[in-house]
Amino acid sequence: MLVSNRGPVTFEADGSATRGSGGLVTALTGLASHREVIWVASAMTEHDAAAAERNDNRPLEVRSSTGGSYLVRLVESDPEAYDRFYNIFANPMLWFIQHYLWDLSNAPDIRRNEIEAFEFGYNVVNEDLARAVVEEVADVSQPIVMVHDYHLYTLPELLRRARPDVFLHHFIHIPWTQPDAWRVLPTRIRQELYAGLLANDIIGFHTNAYRVNFMLCCEELVDADVDWDRSVVTWNGREVWVRAYPLPIDHAATLASAESPRVALFEAELRRRRRDFMILRVDRADLSKNVLRGFTAYDMFLEQHPEFAERVTFVAQLMPSRTDVPEYAEYLERIEALVAVVNHRHGTPDWMPIQLKLRDDLDEALASYKHYDVLLVNAMFDGMNLVAKEGPLLNENAGVSILSENTGAHDELGEFALSVNPFDIQELADSIHAALTMDRAERARRLAGLKAIVTARDPGDWIDEQLADIDAKAAANAT
Ligand code: G6P
Repeated sequence: MLVSNRGPVTFEADGSATRGSGGLVTALTGLASHREVIWVASAMTEHDAAAAERNDNRPLEVRSSTGGSYLVRLVESDPEAYDRFYNIFANPMLWFIQHYLWDLSNAPDIRRNEIEAFEFGYNVVNEDLARAVVEEVADVSQPIVMVHDYHLYTLPELLRRARPDVFLHHFIHIPWTQPDAWRVLPTRIRQELYAGLLANDIIGFHTNAYRVNFMLCCEELVDADVDWDRSVVTWNGREVWVRAYPLPIDHAATLASAESPRVALFEAELRRRRRDFMILRVDRADLSKNVLRGFTAYDMFLEQHPEFAERVTFVAQLMPSRTDVPEYAEYLERIEALVAVVNHRHGTPDWMPIQLKLRDDLDEALASYKHYDVLLVNAMFDGMNLVAKEGPLLNENAGVSILSENTGAHDELGEFALSVNPFDIQELADSIHAALTMDRAERARRLAGLKAIVTARDPGDWIDEQLADIDAKAAANAT
């Protein structure tokens, strides 16, 4: 059984299903279609809720693009509670804490609105999902439930209370920040979140650094007992194992998706518009992705290297995300404004330095991955970042990766990328220049190194590592 806020599909008005976006869905879709699981997720739109109701709220069968099919149960919450859960507490509050995004001298202000968003939003949605899970596992003894991400920190304790025999595994797809970042939350809320999470048997992260930060938080913020050698936190007399499992991409499925006729159409279009060089970024339009500094560095690069004028295009495919959250809506406006400034400053009648594509089109991204000269991933902080893996996998142009040292992916890929400090704009501008002037053999060597790493493991291995620990921990629980 899988539980997450965003499910693998979202429904349109006509009842047809489209794939959900983001790293979590990408990670779990393969798992769901290869094993017999039910995936419980929130009905995120009114069309999702309508689809669930048409099926009497029973699990729906969904076909995956790779041929398999799996069951999804979409759970509807009260719209006002869901709005507080998603747009106030999960995003921005927890997301910002876990990416160091708060500008603390200005925000956040914790008022009744935020407290109530936790009590009557976050907790309500966690309860609704917990109830659905309890129903689905009613006939299963010792069920295994895999919970995903920051939306569901209070759910494990609810499940544990309802079903003491449940095995709970929680994977967190975003960074775990150091204790002080959590101090913006009132103590009581912090306590509830950590107590909820520490009802799990195993908690998994993408990197060792997040694992260490989490244990530090347990020690400092809630006074839990931490065994650093065994990587175990003891809470309420129970052991919680804390582990790192870096997420690989499904390289076979990604390669297959990139062969579709629709991808080929986008490739033809790219070739037609192509200048000597293409710089690419593909991201959700999220503050953590550091889009503005990316454009500022490109602006600086064009200023300092006028010989590249008219020879390079920066294609930025950004998917609007969480647009009901004011911080995100404002960010999108700032992105558009900065693109206009850079294009105005350097552009000519037949050359637009930045091509901004504000849309979520996976095929278009896959086409661009094949042809970029430079892939820019400069996130301020990022749990893993799958674009950093998918791009090199598909690239056919000896493309160079510029990669922020604060992404989870950097642990694995740093050796073959140009590493950057995401706050150092001059370093980023210099890296763009270094990448565009690098000799072809060196570019090819680096790309080959990246391809070898991203094809070495797949999500099946990732799941197997977790299942092996689940078996070991279940055996330990039984003794
Ligand atoms: C990140 C999070 C996921 C989330 C995704 C998309 O990858 O770790 O939990 O689903 O972003 O965000 P959204 O708010 O659209 O679900």
